Amino acid sequence: MTIQKAVIPAAGLGTRFLPATKATPKEMLPIVDKPAIQYVVEEAVRAGLDDVLLITGRSKRSLADHFDAAPELEQALEAKGDTERLAKVRASSELGHVHFVRQGQPKGLGHAVLQAKHHVGHEPFAVLLGDDLIDERDELLSTMLTLQERTGGSVIALLEVPPSQISLYGCAAVEPLAGQGSGGDADQVRVTALVEKPDADEAPSNLAIIGRYVLNAAVFDVLERTEPGRGGEIQLTDALATLADLPTEQGGGVYGVVFRGRRYDTGDRLDYLKAVVQIASDRPDLGPDFRSWLTEYATTLD
Ligand code: G1P
Repeated sequence: MTIQKAVIPAAGLGTRFLPATKATPKEMLPIVDKPAIQYVVEEAVRAGLDDVLLITGRSKRSLADHFDAAPELEQALEAKGDTERLAKVRASSELGHVHFVRQGQPKGLGHAVLQAKHHVGHEPFAVLLGDDLIDERDELLSTMLTLQERTGGSVIALLEVPPSQISLYGCAAVEPLAGQGSGGDADQVRVTALVEKPDADEAPSNLAIIGRYVLNAAVFDVLERTEPGRGGEIQLTDALATLADLPTEQGGGVYGVVFRGRRYDTGDRLDYLKAVVQIASDRPDLGPDFRSWLTEYATTLD
């Protein structure tokens, strides 16, 4: 059975970007000229997941508008003969099937994912967090989908981070994946334990969970039983820790793919700025001019 559904939690308040996010969802902040959320939806669709469920909240209506057709705008561009911009406007409404459900109360990432239970049903599905952008030239989600199909369990994406940064992330203890043999892929592991945002001296490793998951639907029953954890919120990491201890027949087993490609964090202002600069520098249309300006500008900095 091929995995078709992607869930994208987008109900956060975006307080780190106030006042920009007072009336605009943080997922709509542009990375160059495209809202952050569109990069994530495009990544899901590229991996074959064309059924996308956004978990939203109040004041997120512009997300629905963005993935819908915009007849007046399209007619105006058509009348002007601006086919290039018309194609860009249409592209965002022609990306897969985008559905919406509201979280209601902000009770944490685990609670957000639980809102997808009815839509997802019993099949495995992917979760993509909008704060993490994965460079489209680097492979991650498709590797995770393949590993999920092979193991039947749940798969998380891991990134090696400096020990001083591990307290910002969920952290995984891992062991080599049985059956990999010497020809196996050292970047695919079995997860033995998970802890959400541990203190640096208590972290079981320097492997941080980044925002891509492929989950067995057993996660929903586990989430329903998961008590609020770190920060008083229902944590997806805690549900995964339970799944790691469950037998395969009950939908258990958690595996990891260690990602070594390019990832852009857009979760706080400084990282967001870095992401915009990196992505703009790589753009074929703007990149050459932007890079030469940036190089010159850099020489004026202390
Ligand atoms: C969430 C997860 C955390 C994970 C992180 C990745 O935290 O709870 O385990 O490492 O996403 O971006 P948040 O960044 O929402 O606080």
